[in-house]
Amino acid sequence: MLVRCLYASRAMAPLREGLVESILEQSRRNNPRLGVTGLLCYSGDVFIQVLEGGRDAVCELFNEIVRDERHSNVRILLFDEIPARKFGGWTMGQANVSKASQTIVLKYSEKPVFDPFTGSGAATMALLNELLESGSITSRCR
Ligand SMILES: Cc1cc2nc3c(=O)[nH]c(=O)nc-3n(C[C@H](O)[C@H](O)[C@H](O)COP(=O)(O)O)c2cc1C
Repeated sequence: MLVRCLYASRAMAPLREGLVESILEQSRRNNPRLGVTGLLCYSGDVFIQVLEGGRDAVCELFNEIVRDERHSNVRILLFDEIPARKFGGWTMGQANVSKASQTIVLKYSEKPVFDPFTGSGAATMALLNELLESGSITSRCR
């Protein structure tokens, strides 16, 4: 049975390219074996991640991620059983939300800077869908 988990968190230190790269590298090394796919978005000091896969695999990986000291304030925004993956083409795609079009961000947000901690999980998921459809997700690696 497949599930999708969407969460947001705050980086412990201001986000640097190297930090995101090292997380993506770990994800791409581990996720194929776990059957997990998804997307890692970042904006300012905020991470937004979607994890898709079997319930055990997603929950166990999530528990590991929550303990990671590179971020804190981990908040689950949505957790659903799903009939099919949406991000199955990515072992872990990436998108820099602060570089996304203002029109897309404003469509789902009260302010021009997207804040998943105050908005609804559904609005955050809708933004990610739009990023997917507009081709803003990079590093397709499967
Ligand atoms: C925001 C965030 C997202 C992460 N996403 C993943 C992921 O999708 N897959 C993964 O294996 N590790 C991910 N990690 C890293 C894990 O917390 C952990 O460091 C890693 O799984 C350890 O794997 P390793 O022993 O192979 O280095 C993430 C960490 C952070 C801070």
